Amino acid sequence: MIDHRQLPQRYLNYSLKNRNTFGFDATAEFTYEITSADQIAAVFVDITQQKMPWRVLGGGSNVILPKKLSGVTLLMNITGQEILSSDGDATRLAVGAGVNWHELVAWTLENNLPGLENLALIPGTAGAAPIQNIGAYGVEIADYIECIEAFDAQEQTFITLTKEACQFAYRDSYFKQHPNRCIVTKVIFKIPKAWKAHIHYADLAKQFSADSNPSPEDIFLAVCKIRTRKLPDPKIIGNAGSFFQNPIVPNEQFETLLKAHASLVSYPDAPGKRKLAAGWLIDQCGFKGQRMGSVGVYENQALVLVNHGGGTAQDILGLAKCIREKVHDKFGVTLQIEPNIL
Ligand code: EPU
Repeated sequence: MIDHRQLPQRYLNYSLKNRNTFGFDATAEFTYEITSADQIAAVFVDITQQKMPWRVLGGGSNVILPKKLSGVTLLMNITGQEILSSDGDATRLAVGAGVNWHELVAWTLENNLPGLENLALIPGTAGAAPIQNIGAYGVEIADYIECIEAFDAQEQTFITLTKEACQFAYRDSYFKQHPNRCIVTKVIFKIPKAWKAHIHYADLAKQFSADSNPSPEDIFLAVCKIRTRKLPDPKIIGNAGSFFQNPIVPNEQFETLLKAHASLVSYPDAPGKRKLAAGWLIDQCGFKGQRMGSVGVYENQALVLVNHGGGTAQDILGLAKCIREKVHDKFGVTLQIEPNIL
């Protein structure tokens, strides 16, 4: 039985053009705007009865949408954040999945809860952030998560996953490994009272002199400045941030590549492995600033693919295929696409 008291308003053939940062012209067959967790359970009675495909959209900043999305699209809009507890060691914070990520980071600083400042200006929502374990300038969201509340669509029940159960890794998590299983409703953060500046990442280190003692606000502003310079504003030019993950290769392959390409940019990773800068690999293939019809590679950062206007998922995937082939031919490395292809 559908509990109609909890079922939110349903929209037919809803345009998602303003709900995806690529700005693709996409239409969703049935759309529900979710403003509370219990609405999800009610909607799932309907989805299960009618055996409809479904997906969740947060800020739409990490998705590649087709022209038509059949079945049910849930627009995640559970808002609100509250401090749950605060002791000598840490502050625990509960945040609704629909809260805008950057606004949350700004709010934590205003409330004297520093820690998330390196993750400023990342587009998207708090609920989507743990799915790909967003990371920037030496910090990952996983470092600050205590647990996550979610609706398990397979078991049709609400669950709480501990940080360990979330299986966080570089741009990866349990949620990403089990697509279409859990809908994140709330993220519980644990922000330690002992704060430490993370400014070792090259781009960020350049912003501060060796003897400077930057505050969390200084780092927040520096990160905003770097991102604004390097990454296109989706309101002006459609994009989904990094389009490829930085590939991780075995040390032997890295050593061979380094002999052939002395300027190869890379970072340490797990023992025996090395993470390569995908932006550098793509740049070396001459793609930076190139256009292919309505889509292209951003002029200031080769890792970002852009929609100049009127582009489609097919166009962007066509460009991605060219890039992947060329990078593979030149370096023997396979790039993985980061955004979700719906
Ligand atoms: N590089 C080039 N040419 C380019 C781009 C990069 O040569 O066109 C080289 C440069 O040497 C640069 C290095 O690659 O120093 C790394 O580039 P950058 O510092 O811009 O970072 P990234 O590895 O390209 C990653 C994340 C970003 C995150 C930054 C900062 C991934 C896939 N991307 O990018 O995340 O903001 O580090 O920490 O891990 C995102 O996921 O959407 C995203 C923007």
